Amino acid sequence: MVVVTVCVGSSCYLRGAHKIAEAFEAAILRHGLRGRVELQGAFCMNRCLEGVAVAVNGEPLPRVTEGNVEDLFCTYVVRR
Ligand code: FES
Repeated sequence: MVVVTVCVGSSCYLRGAHKIAEAFEAAILRHGLRGRVELQGAFCMNRCLEGVAVAVNGEPLPRVTEGNVEDLFCTYVVRR
């Protein structure tokens, strides 16, 4: 099981964490990985200045935007 964690703390929420979470959920479905990838939320991951904080199995991802979710998903989730 791969765990994708999206920070929904106040700073990340204001930066659009809900949209990032939706984009990861869509990627999970698009790649047919429901049941193999778990999407969860977390409160402040102590990376408030880096944009919306996201981690895969605890490994922080580089800056996440709505536009690069698919690329990051392929790199950090699909290829695992
Ligand atoms: S609120 Fe998301 S890292 Fe702090």
